[in-house]
Amino acid sequence: MKNTWPDQRIQNLFGIKIPIIQAPMAGAQGAEMAIAVCRAGGLGSLPCAMLSPEEIKSEFEKIKSETKNPVNLNFFCHRSPPLNIAGALNWKKELASYYKELGIDPNENVSTFNRIPFDDKTCELVLELKPEVVSFHFGLPKSELMKKLKDAGIKIISSATTVEEAIYLEENGCDAIIAQGVEAGGHRASFLNEDIHTQVGSIVLVPQIVDAVKIPVIAAGGISEARGIAAAFALGASAVQIGTVYLFTPEAKISPVHLKALKNFKQHHTVLTNIFTGRAARGIANRMTREMGPMNDLAPVFPGAGVAMAPLRAKTEPMGSGDFIGMWSGQGAGFGREMGAEDLTLKLSEEALQRL
Ligand SMILES: Cc1cc2nc3c(=O)[nH]c(=O)nc-3n(C[C@H](O)[C@H](O)[C@H](O)COP(=O)(O)O)c2cc1C
Repeated sequence: MKNTWPDQRIQNLFGIKIPIIQAPMAGAQGAEMAIAVCRAGGLGSLPCAMLSPEEIKSEFEKIKSETKNPVNLNFFCHRSPPLNIAGALNWKKELASYYKELGIDPNENVSTFNRIPFDDKTCELVLELKPEVVSFHFGLPKSELMKKLKDAGIKIISSATTVEEAIYLEENGCDAIIAQGVEAGGHRASFLNEDIHTQVGSIVLVPQIVDAVKIPVIAAGGISEARGIAAAFALGASAVQIGTVYLFTPEAKISPVHLKALKNFKQHHTVLTNIFTGRAARGIANRMTREMGPMNDLAPVFPGAGVAMAPLRAKTEPMGSGDFIGMWSGQGAGFGREMGAEDLTLKLSEEALQRL
């Protein structure tokens, strides 16, 4: 099919054929999904927030051995909070009745959450690997690191959830902005203001950001099929970033209980909740979000809330229970289709082009 995308700025910037970016989804996918999307001509992404440096390197090399097309490495940029022991103990106390119900010893040692923000060491590794694109979640790293990446010719993108954040990202060196509407699955990317009441839907966020910045805008949040992609372009976006519907592909690495909840989405709905990690994230409503949240002021700041949650999940997930898991999902999960990530990318592109 002829390439008739009405705006080709992102395709030209990244050197890709299809203006679809597969959203990086930490804990839910690895190299396989990125390879499939790159092969289709979209931008495949490898989420690195929960990987060790050795794992980042080997996953990246796996991708590059399978495809020569551009790839995106994704990192978190949250500020690591000072350890608040009293807050952590208080949170554990709040969860005590669940520990008791499940017969878990509250003094049992748990491995702590491995979500390290992008730092000097990670930057060195990225400079060695030289991906074509790096994307950040929760803001940007310090300016020296931005400069090093830019000097190496790497394109940098990050998500904005408000117009104010978009202007900040443009002023601080981004090549393009992901406008993350509140429909999106996973964590809100917010970094200037974490008040969830500031968060708005894609249909109002995308055009306001397009009007406020000069660099290209990538629409994200609830975009799940051809009509959503065409609408994003009509709103002024130059590309889309899609997450939730890729969770239905065989390349996704989510637990059977999470996949089942996605497939039965008609019986579910999503909520913004901070109880699993300490930051607002959109996931499928479950027992925990109903009884402890969805938002809870006592949840320690990101990623601290996850420490006391980990044993509850570890005990119940293998039993097929989704009661204690943050089952991330956007509001568009009802559009999920079961097919490989390469075919899904091609199909979304073909169907969107027909509409445009
Ligand atoms: C399971 C899951 C995990 C996610 N993890 C990340 C991540 O590691 N890094 C990131 O930048 N965005 C992450 N996101 C957010 C996506 O980048 C994107 O904003 C979102 O998926 C778009 O909305 P949609 O899910 O409705 O398509 C995640 C989303 C989901 C659904």
